[in-house]
Amino acid sequence: MARRIVAAGNWKMNETPSEAAALIKELVPLVKNDEEDVILCVPAIDIIPAKEAAKGSNIHIGAENMYFEEKGAYTGEISPAMLVDAGVEYVILGHSERRTYFAETNETVNKKVLKAFEHGITPIICCGESLEQREQGITIDWIRQQVKIAFLGVTADQAKTAIIAYEPIWAIGTGKTATTAQAQEVCAAIRECIKELYGEGVSEEIRILYGGSVNAKTAKDLFDQPDIDGGLVGGASLKPEFGQIVNR
Ligand code: PGA
Repeated sequence: MARRIVAAGNWKMNETPSEAAALIKELVPLVKNDEEDVILCVPAIDIIPAKEAAKGSNIHIGAENMYFEEKGAYTGEISPAMLVDAGVEYVILGHSERRTYFAETNETVNKKVLKAFEHGITPIICCGESLEQREQGITIDWIRQQVKIAFLGVTADQAKTAIIAYEPIWAIGTGKTATTAQAQEVCAAIRECIKELYGEGVSEEIRILYGGSVNAKTAKDLFDQPDIDGGLVGGASLKPEFGQIVNR
């Protein structure tokens, strides 16, 4: 079964609301493509102007994070209902920067994944090893653990709609893309792990992305790999280059 390619951008902490609207307008004609899912995950404060600027285009707007409680005394957090009301369809969860700088754990990622599904938001669940872990030879074990905990309590029907992003930490923002063989190897291992958890049907449907210094030059080979269904793109999603990645 052919899986639909996902080209997802992760803007991180870039673009003010007015800059976001202007950048989306610039990207709209460049990312036109009816055969792929084009998603831009933007800072929370940019979501509403981004939605407005993307109206009538094929760009879907996502968030970069979300809290796992419904509402209440959680100063500074954004709830799933707030995202849904603003028109958000996707949310990045467990990005390595959130794990490193904001103390996110596999357990909090799991709570957020369950909450996202409860509210009909598609999670883009991130996993990835550090350079040290890769050199120690524990990459696959580490990723399997991240994936298994993220999916605790997730039903098969939910799991097949999820998106997983494999992002080796050493490749993020470094200009050092993993080789296609390295990326394919880990994405295949993730699919195998999903197969063990949910069976072949789900593992063939779930989409697995590669992220880490994806650019217009590397996207085609990466996205052509049998177990890579697209990319999560940071730096290059803030530039017209994102159009070249979508339409490589
Ligand atoms: P990068 O970021 O493309 O700038 O390396 C990817 C990510 O962190 O999602």
